[in-house]
Amino acid sequence: MVFQELKGKVAVITGGSMGIGSAIAKRFAEEGMKVVINYHSHPEAAQELVELLKETGGEGIAVQADVSSEADVQKLVDTAVEHFGGIDVWVNNAGMENKHNTHELPLEDWKRVIDVNLTGVFIGAKAALNYFVTNNKKGNIINTSSVHEQIPWPTFAHYAASKGGVKLFTETVAMEYAARDIRVNSIGPGAINTPINAKKFADPKQLEATTSMVPMQRIGDPSEVAAAAAWLASDESSYVTGITLFVDGGMTLYPAFQDGKG
Ligand code: BGC
Repeated sequence: MVFQELKGKVAVITGGSMGIGSAIAKRFAEEGMKVVINYHSHPEAAQELVELLKETGGEGIAVQADVSSEADVQKLVDTAVEHFGGIDVWVNNAGMENKHNTHELPLEDWKRVIDVNLTGVFIGAKAALNYFVTNNKKGNIINTSSVHEQIPWPTFAHYAASKGGVKLFTETVAMEYAARDIRVNSIGPGAINTPINAKKFADPKQLEATTSMVPMQRIGDPSEVAAAAAWLASDESSYVTGITLFVDGGMTLYPAFQDGKG
């Protein structure tokens, strides 16, 4: 436990059963928090995580929901309130990506990625804001964005567009609710060792292609992203709102300029 004041606080984490989301759930539980773990299609993974949290002395509950549905997301709010007595921190983490040349990108894929990555962040933030405002509580919202809110990513135009949207959404909502002591921040992970990337990083060539774009020359661990989430959730970041905290080993630093090239 690093951030004492997090003990007993309640967090909702969308896309919480795998990858960065499950790392955040584990870290929050280590901090003594109670976590509502939202999953979309892997109940076993979510249930396993709940058991794991129990073993480590934490508390969690798994709830199925599609983040692009307001009715589903309301279930997350209701579960947090009924089981844990309220909400302190809301993490909009659910995300997806797929690769297509833009001239061939199926409209369906475009819509789904925008629905989950951007509309899902809006729906989650709206639900959390509504809870905080109605209950006159201070609040904390953390969005999982990406280095691709800043770095263009050919063949992932829908993904990059969604994350660019998350950036300005985060900044706008942070400003709108700052006076109520509701903080809204993003985390911008770079190349992280998660299931989304498992296939890519299992191939040594692709792994090397990625690490060559990371000044720290390695991919990141989900726990390193979770550490940023814990700090943003804590009072140690009490004067921080509207930022994207990049957790990327320097990927956003224009690594092509390494060694004075340019
Ligand atoms: C993507 C990863 C990618 C990383 C760096 C992330 O947003 O989810 O697939 O490796 O950005 O490009």
